[in-house]
Amino acid sequence: MYKILLREDLVPGIHLFQVAAPAVAKKAQPGQFVVVRIDEKGERVPLTIADWDEGGGSVTIVFMEVGTTTARLALLEAGEAIADFVGPLGLPAHIDKFGTVVCVAGGVGAAPIAPIARALRRAGNKIISILGARSKDLLFWEDKLRNVSDQLIVTTDDGTYGRKGVVTEPLKELLESGEKVDRVIAIGPAIMMKFCSLTTALFGVKTIVSLNPIMVDGTGMCGCCRVSVGGETKFACVDGPDFDGHQVDWDLLFARQRIYLDEEKCSFEQWQSSIHPEVKAYGKAKS
Ligand code: FES
Repeated sequence: MYKILLREDLVPGIHLFQVAAPAVAKKAQPGQFVVVRIDEKGERVPLTIADWDEGGGSVTIVFMEVGTTTARLALLEAGEAIADFVGPLGLPAHIDKFGTVVCVAGGVGAAPIAPIARALRRAGNKIISILGARSKDLLFWEDKLRNVSDQLIVTTDDGTYGRKGVVTEPLKELLESGEKVDRVIAIGPAIMMKFCSLTTALFGVKTIVSLNPIMVDGTGMCGCCRVSVGGETKFACVDGPDFDGHQVDWDLLFARQRIYLDEEKCSFEQWQSSIHPEVKAYGKAKS
């Protein structure tokens, strides 16, 4: 069992757990993920590693409540434990001295991009980060990203904080400004990563995205996380999760992400109706 050492509610519906997992902490690298199972009958869910402490033997995950498993996970408190915490999985992010790197994070994408930006900066890159959310109350880790960036631009869709609009607007302006951008890394909702890639394609700037298809085993055995990149079939769990955004078949990714929407909705409704009203109210109050 893997004990939750710390729990933090970052914004409504997005939570941070620091989990005791010394073997994972020892090997974790930016861009990798873990597969978590709450109990022995639980669904396996992939969650990106947001940070780790090798000396302290802990791994930090940040997750958003999107279905039954993540809603159940959100009910756990520090001191409780998770049955399985497997990782680190996936290929680490490519860290090198590229020059100027623009890191674009949307919503919960702020968590996985922070250790990547940190590693890229340590490697001698200039980091310009763009952090976007729908609204001020959904923004988190602004300070963390500022600390690992030479420049930070914050956007909110509704204009309640930072500049009003979506992340692709400052990204396009940066590329138009003549600033020499050597690489863009975009992590967030698939639609955001698609539009970042379309924007940078106009300027021929290499763009890396972190794909988030449905996963089961996380080790390349089940084929569930199949994506198409440059016309070739890839498994996001072992060939990724990072891929060239200009080569991704986005329509296939969107279609595959929606495959189990009905089952997921049904599962969530069944779980909601099965839990005690007090637990339901408690979960609502926390998120
Ligand atoms: S999750 Fe099974 S092959 Fe990737």
